[in-house]
Amino acid sequence: MPAIASKAPAKLILLGEHAVVYGHPAIAVPIQSLWLKATCQANIRQPRGFTVSVPQLALEGNLSDIPETHPLQTAVALTLRRLGIREIPSVHLHIQANFPFSAGLGSSASMAVSVVRALSDFLGHPLEVETVNALAYQVEVSAHGTPSGIDNTVISYNHPIWFVKGQFPTQLGAGADFHFVIADTGIKKSTASTVGDLAERRAASPEEINLHYDAIAKIATRGLVAFEFGELEEFGELMTENQTHLSELGLSCPELDTLIEASLHAGALGAKLTGGGRGGFMVALAPTADTLVISEALMDAGAKQVIDVPILEDGSY
Ligand code: PMV
Repeated sequence: MPAIASKAPAKLILLGEHAVVYGHPAIAVPIQSLWLKATCQANIRQPRGFTVSVPQLALEGNLSDIPETHPLQTAVALTLRRLGIREIPSVHLHIQANFPFSAGLGSSASMAVSVVRALSDFLGHPLEVETVNALAYQVEVSAHGTPSGIDNTVISYNHPIWFVKGQFPTQLGAGADFHFVIADTGIKKSTASTVGDLAERRAASPEEINLHYDAIAKIATRGLVAFEFGELEEFGELMTENQTHLSELGLSCPELDTLIEASLHAGALGAKLTGGGRGGFMVALAPTADTLVISEALMDAGAKQVIDVPILEDGSY
């Protein structure tokens, strides 16, 4: 049996993270240059076993030795159950990615989507995108508790989307060339912990937290118009406004603030954290395709890595 590989992109939330968990809208895009690849092949070393290797997580061994709650276990179990396969097949699953995990770029959803696709393809039963997305969402639920589903959705459909929890995503087209630049603080943060913290704070003072979520929802709604009509300056301002609320919610950190400030100082139209926050990546919107000044400013300000993410009017991204 030949090896079967499936690649899933990373994702970038442009507006609306966290509020999206509570039913508010958000905008997200896939990042084509960043990917996670799952490869399935017949297990020569252990003809009756399911083994995995994820060098980036220093994980190597039998699937059954990994904690039951690990997303890899869940992704494999759910896929086999969906295909009606009861006996563990002889498979070696290898995961490799060119972007950091736990950094706000959706690594767990990329892993879920690529594993579900690679395994179902390998076993001869390719699944429809809707099914892949539904299974990946269940993997996210087991990993994070209460995910909105935005990560698995933008990654499964691999298209810029307007997302509201529980609804079919709306595919978006950019009304102009948007040149985003993302930069890594190098700080790893688990989404479950930031989402969990906010849930506790919301339970203690619902009005205070909901005020921010309502404001973020309005920002995302205005952002939808700005994105589709190609209003770059307006979109940038909305990003920065969104950041103010995220920061007041306690989701920023000095390293993110430094990178955000540096990008704005270097001419970015707007900037904010992206994803779970308190570390990971930030995103800035450059005024033109020439992102060098902003990239250099970000590196000078301590970014561990800077990546261009163009989302263009002609539909390429
Ligand atoms: O940090 P990431 O890549 O897991 O993104 C999380 C996005 C949140 O809005 C914070 C959570 C969610 O489920 O939507």
